[in-house]
Amino acid sequence: MVKFPQDFLWGAATSAYQVEGNNINSDWWQWEKEAGREKSGRACRHYEFYEQDFDLAKSLNHNAHRLSIEWSRIEPEEGKFSQGELKHYIDVILALRSRNIEPMVTLHHFTNPIWFSKSGGWENRRSVARFLRYCDFLTRSLAKYVHYWITINEPNVYISHAYIMGVWPPEVKSYLKAKVVQDNFISAHIKAFRLIHKIYKELNISEPSISITQNIQAFVPCIPNLKNRFAAILRDKWYNFGFLDKIMRQKTMDFVGLNYYSRQLVEARKWGIGSLAMDVCKNNHHPVKKNSLGWDIYPEGLYEILLKLKKYGLPVIITENGICTQDDFLRWEYIYNHLKNIHLAMEKGVQVTGYLYWSLMDNFEWDKGFGPRFGLIDIDYSTYKRTVRESARQFGQVCKTGVLE
Ligand code: BGC
Repeated sequence: MVKFPQDFLWGAATSAYQVEGNNINSDWWQWEKEAGREKSGRACRHYEFYEQDFDLAKSLNHNAHRLSIEWSRIEPEEGKFSQGELKHYIDVILALRSRNIEPMVTLHHFTNPIWFSKSGGWENRRSVARFLRYCDFLTRSLAKYVHYWITINEPNVYISHAYIMGVWPPEVKSYLKAKVVQDNFISAHIKAFRLIHKIYKELNISEPSISITQNIQAFVPCIPNLKNRFAAILRDKWYNFGFLDKIMRQKTMDFVGLNYYSRQLVEARKWGIGSLAMDVCKNNHHPVKKNSLGWDIYPEGLYEILLKLKKYGLPVIITENGICTQDDFLRWEYIYNHLKNIHLAMEKGVQVTGYLYWSLMDNFEWDKGFGPRFGLIDIDYSTYKRTVRESARQFGQVCKTGVLE
């Protein structure tokens, strides 16, 4: 039996585009229109049913919830902010507060307003100023209700999908452009961090807690030869810690937001940069259980990563960890084993202050559509009926007691 601290944050995470539905001013909405793509459509209709969804979160003893704000709703045209949509998000946040659920608000979770993308998206130098204008508007309006902010969700995932592999909008495949986007993200985060803190001071509201959420993978050398070990170290440096190290140097993280899912078995075929950065074992050496998208389940990786994060000397919140599966026993096993590893890391001195499962409910998994089922709550997409899964109840017991039997 292990016990977590009394004030631990327990809950789940969502992102606006994946659950709300009808985000017609977003660049993803436009991208989906192209033939052959699964459309997000009404998604989970969370925009309408958020009260009901938070009732379920409450019944599962969650005391925290991570949500994102859809920029394209707030600023559907450049410089024109929608008071109606702002009111909606205030209502959403108050709905959490009235249930004693601590909101954690993400400002950018993969999607952009169409006008922003049309004028060069994150490649454009002006992207930083545009993002800051949106942050300024939101912070002034929401500061009273929000303590935890995430500026940008998984910049490394966005950049690798949208600017290196080119499988997400705007479908670019260019290392050069990826670097430009990365630099703009870094600058956007650093400036947003300072701006949000400044606004809280001006408004005389106690200091907020701000970070990014970083997707970190366990890069494990398949055969531990020199090439594979070197490749794993490089990937750690570039993919996992590059962004964090840079923003840490500027002291612009109040905590580390960690999104952890899986392991990558590193098998570099050549010494070339492409191989070192990308090659993976295709022979199923070291087999482990997998989620329905074929990702390795590797809870001990979370322990190893948490120990590596110790160098920042900051509290860590697990802002995403989850599994897509139709096998709900496996879901509970996944949560259980990851929580065990978090606790082990805490015993080694890592200060973990919260765990948010991805996701509260099944949702629109980007280019993979509605197939993958990550939710604690099942969604029937023909009726939008919500059904709480057994794994959610088991996790709910841990949220209530802080005890993992
Ligand atoms: C993202 C989520 C996504 C999840 C599962 C994370 O990379 O933040 O939006 O649904 O992983 O793939």
